Amino acid sequence: MNRVYLDNNATTPLLPEVFEAMRPYFFERFGNASSIHRQGQQARAAVEHAREQVADLLNCRPAEIVFTSGGTEGDNLALFGLLKPGDHVITSAVEHHAVLNACRRLEELGCPVTYLPVDGRAVVNPDDVRRALRRETKLVSIILANNETGVLQPVREIAKIAAEADVYFHSDAVQAAGKVPLDMKEMSCDLLTITGHKMHGPQGAGALYVRKGTLLQPLLYGGRHERSRRAGTENLPGIVGLGKAAEIAREGFAQGSVERMLELRDRLERCIVDRIEQVGLNSGGAPRVPNTANLYFDCIEGEAMVIALDLKGLSVSTGAACSSGAIEPSHVLTAMGLSADRARASIRFSLGKQNTTEDVEFALSLMPDVVSRLRELSPVWKSAVSR
Ligand SMILES: Cc1ncc(COP(=O)(O)O)c(C=O)c1O
Repeated sequence: MNRVYLDNNATTPLLPEVFEAMRPYFFERFGNASSIHRQGQQARAAVEHAREQVADLLNCRPAEIVFTSGGTEGDNLALFGLLKPGDHVITSAVEHHAVLNACRRLEELGCPVTYLPVDGRAVVNPDDVRRALRRETKLVSIILANNETGVLQPVREIAKIAAEADVYFHSDAVQAAGKVPLDMKEMSCDLLTITGHKMHGPQGAGALYVRKGTLLQPLLYGGRHERSRRAGTENLPGIVGLGKAAEIAREGFAQGSVERMLELRDRLERCIVDRIEQVGLNSGGAPRVPNTANLYFDCIEGEAMVIALDLKGLSVSTGAACSSGAIEPSHVLTAMGLSADRARASIRFSLGKQNTTEDVEFALSLMPDVVSRLRELSPVWKSAVSR
């Protein structure tokens, strides 16, 4: 059976070039980067090369990159590393759970948190950030690109407001890296999280950008790895893969990979909306990353649609992978004002570099039939059409 994967916001397939770059570091170049012998030196050189590759993607200094196990750790290191009881944090209602649940824990530890609302497109108003600032505000943390809707927040403006107020700014850029250029010299950002597996790199390897002079308490205590910011033997193949993925992502901007993805995504959205009734695009009016489409299909359970499409060979998602299976509707979609029913009737298509026109056509060929079959089974749909 033909299988098409359109769930790249959950994770992306590893690029073959990335795997080839990693391969020697599982075998002949297996050293510990802290060892002083030949194998150790090779490992150290590879880690430092990867640091340069990631720094190039973010246009920052290599010394400002801390390797982590991924996005969750990066977000947690930024928040728990910076904040002490009594410090106030400003974040948004549409963050990934890596930030939201870290904030809930911070509240228990005595850090008050303001969760800013979003408008009907799921966008944060920078003026709300300004209004939420207090004397005790230490950090503003706003997601750069949302994992469910793909919405890009006005982080440049928000970072500037934070800088003017002498408050640190962190952004979760896990879903933005490789899809929009990220320039730390141009953005007043102090901390920024990325992860390998959302940009065709390996799972379990990520990085936190820490602006020079930003003092962080480590999450883990142990050796002096990563300039004492992250103890533990480096994940050598993972870091090498992350570096290679970062290099390829940077080159992709010049090679038009973003434009190709945008064209495919726009065709997918347009055709679904044209060919199927009572469908709508979530956050259609907002600036978005080029790979994500989130649509509602009235009177259908998103979960049922994901299963029906999966049986036909198409992998998509109802939203955040970690909350799939939960009965609660998406916190992101409800925060932007969707009813619980509409939020539950929404599904996410997310493209990667490997996707082709044929993949999009395959998805389009399945959708009308799957939607009408599920609606035939829906009592809500039957009563809606008989009215
Ligand atoms: C926006 C965002 N932040 C953080 C994470 C967590 O990243 P990781 O899976 O590398 O821990 C994800 C993963 O879904 C994400 O989409």
